[in-house]
Amino acid sequence: MAASDFKTWMGDVQAQMESALSIFLPASTQLPERLHDAMRYSVLDGGKRVRPLLTFAAGHLVNAPAERLQAAAAAVEMIHAYSLVHDDMPAMDNDVLRRGKPTVHVAFGEATALLAGDALQAAAFDVLSERQLADSPADQLKMVHLLARAAGSLGMCGGQGIDLYSVGQALTLPELERMHILKTGALIRAAVLLGSYCGQPLSEAERHGLDHFAKCIGLAFQVVDDILDCEADSATLGKTAGKDAANNKPTYVALLGMKGAKDKAAELKQAAFDALLPFGERAQYLHALAGYIVDRKY
Ligand code: IPE
Ligand code: IPE
Ligand code: MG
Ligand code: MG
Ligand code: MG
Repeated sequence: MAASDFKTWMGDVQAQMESALSIFLPASTQLPERLHDAMRYSVLDGGKRVRPLLTFAAGHLVNAPAERLQAAAAAVEMIHAYSLVHDDMPAMDNDVLRRGKPTVHVAFGEATALLAGDALQAAAFDVLSERQLADSPADQLKMVHLLARAAGSLGMCGGQGIDLYSVGQALTLPELERMHILKTGALIRAAVLLGSYCGQPLSEAERHGLDHFAKCIGLAFQVVDDILDCEADSATLGKTAGKDAANNKPTYVALLGMKGAKDKAAELKQAAFDALLPFGERAQYLHALAGYIVDRKY
């Protein structure tokens, strides 16, 4: 599809999500104001919204209504925002800059940052279960389960645990891949699959193909995040560049070198494209997003 059409579509989804998230989150005037301020600060006005874009792009495959996609995408983005708030805290990556702003613990204090993350996780399941998002209750139950599994110790939190316990250790490539698949891939996969449950059912083979696509770009996303941490500057990233090497983190760049990491990202992009072939035109937004995820500069 034309680059300008993709840009327009992206801008439209990002704008829809900004207003949907603002409505789903408790107002700053609601007690306790400080906690709600911190939640809104971490979620609104920032971020690329890659996960919501993936939910909408997968929703396009199945003709899903926008209101359903907004809620499903908001749930994933709230889990993502919570993971960033906690990832930045002193006990984890100890970062002071996120999405071009001071991190939540810097702006609101550590206790409020902890609570904002906790409350965002609950808010995600609130929005995912409050209204009908799939044609059948059984499918919506699958959506809730998918997100719970992707967020927990067998998904994102598990990957974050491995990340912390691996500092300064030489991981093997399969170990590193496992960590990345969990800490970042799991939530990206959930973003894609949740969108696909909001519309007409996919066949078993189609669901399998879409899942393979989601796994490839989920891993690619973190490989590129590792590359950008080395190559981009803090102003472009909106977060502190060079932190991985400074914190002695195991990354694709550390293990494979810059060229090896870039080759890996390109290989995953091609595998993602291949997985979309059976869907034809319907997958145009997913295809464009896979390109964007690997070729992005921040
Ligand atoms: C950063 O995610 C953290 C990772 C999982 C690599 P994003 O790069 O999607 O961050 P935002 O949402 O655009 O700020
Ligand atoms: C974080 O990975 C993944 C999360 C689950 C938040 P990073 O620690 O590399 O993310 P950034 O680089 O701080 O955004
Ligand atoms: Mg981290
Ligand atoms: Mg970090
Ligand atoms: Mg990083």
